[in-house]
Amino acid sequence: MSLISRISGTGHFVPPHTVTNFDLEKEMDTTDEWIRKRTGIKERHYVKPGTGSSDLGYQASLKAIQDAGINKNEIDFIIAATLSPDHYFPGIGVLVQSKLGLEHIGALDIRNQCSGFIYALSAADQFIKSGMYKKILIVAAEVQSTNLDYSIEGRHLAVLFGDGGAAVILEPASKQENRGILSTHLFSDGRHVQKLWMDSPSPKDKPTFSYQIIDDKRCYPKMEGKHVFVNAVEKMPQAVWAALECNNMTIDDVDHLIPHQANDRISLMVAKKLGIPVPKVIRNIDRFGNTTAASIPIALDESVRNGRIQKNDIVVLTAFGSGYTWASALMRW
Ligand code: COA
Repeated sequence: MSLISRISGTGHFVPPHTVTNFDLEKEMDTTDEWIRKRTGIKERHYVKPGTGSSDLGYQASLKAIQDAGINKNEIDFIIAATLSPDHYFPGIGVLVQSKLGLEHIGALDIRNQCSGFIYALSAADQFIKSGMYKKILIVAAEVQSTNLDYSIEGRHLAVLFGDGGAAVILEPASKQENRGILSTHLFSDGRHVQKLWMDSPSPKDKPTFSYQIIDDKRCYPKMEGKHVFVNAVEKMPQAVWAALECNNMTIDDVDHLIPHQANDRISLMVAKKLGIPVPKVIRNIDRFGNTTAASIPIALDESVRNGRIQKNDIVVLTAFGSGYTWASALMRW
């Protein structure tokens, strides 16, 4: 029997500490009005020191496992997506594996930033379709609040990010049922690495860590905001059109679009280009900020749990981010 894969459980976890735009006004030269008008963000969640992406991912994983109604020991593979691992190495996949107390199953880390969840979903989908694994935990989590540049130079980026984690369980579904992941499309253009990146720590520097690197601010994420904006509103619709064409669908067939929550203006512009009505676009950036790899699965989990996404709905995910990388996934829920 040929297989497709379907998401059988979802979960998310954000740290309880909320940071509003007004809180940021006290820390840096910014205003609530500037942030809301340019990005749609009102607040985001920040961890307390000592909490890593693996901790957020672990909490989200427990919820996804419970939602799927499985025993955690049935999980036979983990794929983790983050740009903010707890350590330079190893990645967080193994940390989530050990926190869950799982057997010696494989754990793969994906480094695709804002597109990380869709890349992870696509990889997991291939493993399920090939029959290699039967229950894959996909976990996406970020802690970004601990390394932001609150100076004038970095404030356009610092106000965007929030911390959070989310997870899904992917399992085989019968093709006859036709519910599950119908396609994934992955793209990249490495010419633009420096438009959105964190240069250091880099083994190209000897020594890798030095006060000079900190003084030069090479240890902070950097972004050319306008370049990212223009490319995001071009590439995300392209990825969705690739998904629609592959499935012989039009945008009218789509019940929900979940764009990566990068900036609400980007989401609305993507919707306009696609010709999809705004009520079909899932947007929660006002409460979470940009949680990078975790943003799509957080929005997915919220929308499933609050009943907005219903059985058999057509859901399309799309993301764009550092690399550049961009992607889409189309599924029948
Ligand atoms: N608070 C107040 N003012 C700020 C500010 C802040 N946090 N950040 C920047 N400004 C100021 C700048 O200093 C500049 O002032 P000036 O006109 O006096 O020189 C002005 O606002 C415009 O700055 P700029 O950086 O050009 O803003 P922008 O219009 O490009 O908007 C973003 C900035 C980040 C909102 C926008 O570029 C964007 O959304 N880009 C995409 C970001 C994104 O999605 N990244 C993640 C991708 S996955």
